[in-house]
Amino acid sequence: MDVFEAIHSRYSQGKVKPDAVPRALIEELLRAAVQAPNHYKVRPWRFVVLTGDGRDKLGDVMAASQRENHPDFPQEAFDKARATPLRAPVVIAVGADKPGEPKVLEIENVCAAAAACQNLLLAAHAMGLGAKWRTGEWARDAKVKEFLGFAPDQHIVAFLYIGYPEFIAENPPRPSFEDRTVWME
Ligand SMILES: Cc1cc2nc3c(=O)[nH]c(=O)nc-3n(C[C@H](O)[C@H](O)[C@H](O)COP(=O)(O)O)c2cc1C
Repeated sequence: MDVFEAIHSRYSQGKVKPDAVPRALIEELLRAAVQAPNHYKVRPWRFVVLTGDGRDKLGDVMAASQRENHPDFPQEAFDKARATPLRAPVVIAVGADKPGEPKVLEIENVCAAAAACQNLLLAAHAMGLGAKWRTGEWARDAKVKEFLGFAPDQHIVAFLYIGYPEFIAENPPRPSFEDRTVWME
């Protein structure tokens, strides 16, 4: 698949099969991710790959955090939180490093980590995998960050949910660039 075909035909796949994805394929995705540009070659991306029981452990942390923050919530909410990482056989949490020196800006590190995410999504698509980029409250949750080994003030830019697609949906073409672009000539 050439790069234009991959870009234009990639859509988020929220529903994927529970079938395991071989580690070699996950490594292929990570190899693609780290081809992203980054300022000062700081390689600011951090990946935590959760498969199998790793996802259950993350789900336990999510449920415990929610119980602590919202003890009034019904049990179903905690059960839903616990099941969050089980939506796909592979979940990759992507963090961006805090800058370690003044010339490196936090926003640049976040941009580079996001570029790595898009590389990974395109690679997944080209390999016949389905994937979806999510963040939500869990990307900002202190206990989740601690469990994943991220510092409290470090950004989690994505949870990438990856697996073999359940089905390929017909997606409408995305809006044009035109109303988001000015030309200065
Ligand atoms: C930074 C970021 C965070 C996102 N977080 C969520 C999320 O938490 N839940 C969700 O359903 N979609 C989220 N999305 C959107 C989807 O990943 C997806 O891009 C969107 O549904 C558009 O679909 P498409 O990828 O098929 O064009 C997020 C996208 C980005 C870039």
